[in-house]
Amino acid sequence: MVYRRVLTAIYPGSFDPITNGHLDVIGRAARLADRLVVGVLSNANKNPTFPLEERVEMTREAVRKYPNIEVTHFDGLLVEFAEREKAKIIVRGIRAISDYEFELQMALMNRRLRPDLETVFLMASEQYSFVSSRIIKEVARLGGEIGGLVPPHVEARLKAQFQRS
Ligand code: PNS
Repeated sequence: MVYRRVLTAIYPGSFDPITNGHLDVIGRAARLADRLVVGVLSNANKNPTFPLEERVEMTREAVRKYPNIEVTHFDGLLVEFAEREKAKIIVRGIRAISDYEFELQMALMNRRLRPDLETVFLMASEQYSFVSSRIIKEVARLGGEIGGLVPPHVEARLKAQFQRS
């Protein structure tokens, strides 16, 4: 019998909401891993704009075309989530050198907690190097154009959200 190991990677984040920058990294990771699990952080103390269910739903809709991607949520330690999903790799995106310091800190802490779990950094396409959920929300809240920076269903959700408030 031929045994083939399935390489599972996790891509964790707040996804508040998912952007085309995230999707760029997700597309790259989905080509490298057999199975990619996108983990939406449920941790309420980050005070997200969108509740967990909406963040998961928007993320799921955005990755619908990929057969090897699952979207779920997690709470607690990332390394424990990785263990539950039998993942060997944590994927994180790097946009600019300013991301590096925090990412290095997280990667080294996660390595200390689970030495056999590797963090792999993927460079987002330069066209999204300035895109973050935070800046997208700020522009959307002030009525600016965000088309092309988030998927259309997220754009609609952002507009609805900020019309309400
Ligand atoms: O999209 P974000 O907000 O940059 O993602 C941050 C995330 C979810 C990767 C990080 O906050 C995280 O891993 N939280 C889980 C708690 C944890 O394990 N903390 C210790 C890691 S150093």
